[in-house]
Amino acid sequence: MGASQEKNQTLTVRDNRTGKVYTIPIDDNSVPATAFKAIKAPRLPGEREENETEKGLRIADRGFLNTAVIKSKITHIDGDAGVLRYRGYPIEQLALKSSHLETAYLLIYGVLPTKQQHNVFQSEVHRHSAMHADSEEFFRSFRYDAHPMAMLTSAFAYLGSYYAEANPSLEGQNLYTTGTPESLTIMDKQIYRLIGKATTLAAMAYRVRQGREFVTPPHGLSYTGSFLYQMDHLGQEDYRPNPVLEKALDVLFLLHADHELNASCTTVLQTGSSLVDPYSAIAAGCASLYGPLHGGANEAVIRMLISIGKPENVPSFIEAVKRREKVLSGFGHRVYKTSDPRSFIVRKTADEVFKITGKDELLETAMALHEAAMKDEYFIKRKLAPNVDFCSGLIYRAMGFPLDFFPVLFAVPRVVGWLAHWRQMMLQEGGVKIWRPRQIFVGAAKRDYVPIEERSVVTGIKNAPSPIAHSGIMKRTMLGTFKDKPLTKL
Ligand code: CMC
Repeated sequence: MGASQEKNQTLTVRDNRTGKVYTIPIDDNSVPATAFKAIKAPRLPGEREENETEKGLRIADRGFLNTAVIKSKITHIDGDAGVLRYRGYPIEQLALKSSHLETAYLLIYGVLPTKQQHNVFQSEVHRHSAMHADSEEFFRSFRYDAHPMAMLTSAFAYLGSYYAEANPSLEGQNLYTTGTPESLTIMDKQIYRLIGKATTLAAMAYRVRQGREFVTPPHGLSYTGSFLYQMDHLGQEDYRPNPVLEKALDVLFLLHADHELNASCTTVLQTGSSLVDPYSAIAAGCASLYGPLHGGANEAVIRMLISIGKPENVPSFIEAVKRREKVLSGFGHRVYKTSDPRSFIVRKTADEVFKITGKDELLETAMALHEAAMKDEYFIKRKLAPNVDFCSGLIYRAMGFPLDFFPVLFAVPRVVGWLAHWRQMMLQEGGVKIWRPRQIFVGAAKRDYVPIEERSVVTGIKNAPSPIAHSGIMKRTMLGTFKDKPLTKL
């Protein structure tokens, strides 16, 4: 950049309310939101004081559509070109040549490991994969039909209870932010533990639902090989998971390892910004990922395909989507305005898996849906294309995983991305700033408390709790009495 261009890296803003002109610096094609706070104006007659007009402008960005909250060196996405790079390396190259654990090293530490570094990393992850025996009771305490994501989310928080030495609330709030060798050692140990135990916790959530005994992580298998072993081993001697499925899962893990500031990663950073321990931050991220707009979409895709049933029903489903009665799960993305580059690799991986498992019966419906959506003006106009979740569920189904386990298969590899971003934030220049966004307060202005006898009824869905229809045991007990008084009157 030339000197004059550099000088021009500013934005001139004229406030038409006051006639004042402000010069705002542009850095890396971004403007600081705080510069807008300096733009103040007197409140208009009658304007609400809650607008805080005289305290400076606020930036409104519902859903973080254009707010950059961090400087990151980890993952780059060009949503218009369908490009995804981890630390500069195209996702296609990594999917072809790397492995999930090697990519984990790359994402977290910024460089591809040497053979020796890779071996140490892999051994440490493995060494930290076993769970305390008490955790078996933890998993058995869930109801028989608990969703595995409910178990996994709780399990990450539970895991943190074992490591007092890793908790800034107990050990000092600078535990992870000083960048000293001692601090980095503690940080990286938690990283090993979280990556190593993610598969163990997920496998335990799986086995408790199947009514099977738990399995200790085996020696000598790959990350996904060990995961499959822990889910599937039933006492057979020298059991080894199928290598094609092991490799396919590894590729899927690598593809899901990171995706910059998606909802769950942002949640991890937001939670981590209070300097809470990494286990609590990862649990928060896991909860966020579970939603059907995010990592729950792979489960939602299959439920949608089951509800469509046959290719003949696709046109009426598409019409229902256009009438906004339904959502086409597995389509659309906040960042990609063309096909998600991961979706092509997922489709290739699906072919490999189907060769040995046989095709999923929903595949034809999925393909008909894909074709119909890609030709339809509604989807073309909105640039809605398949995302990574459109086909991944078909692979998981062909591999025999239950539907509600699909988001777990997304969360486990994403632990890597969450940790990479968390580590980067802990060590960022200038320290950690707590993430505390602003709101635009549109509620009631100051009003005085009214005694209960003087209040009039205010109705409407937002002003009163909804009545609940009681059933089962609640209905029966409500028909009973307590000390001769009807329970409903208590
Ligand atoms: N089906 C039907 N219409 C859609 C869809 C869809 N899947 N996605 C977006 N639209 C419409 C939306 O109604 C809106 O229309 P209009 O402008 O007329 O109101 C327009 O497209 C723009 O969508 P948006 O909701 O403003 O986009 P967003 O960036 O806020 O949401 C999304 C992104 C992924 C939440 C959304 O596309 C969606 O709900 N997709 C289905 C769920 C899904 O597959 N999620 C997985 C995402 S990829 C993996 C991951 O990161 O977890």
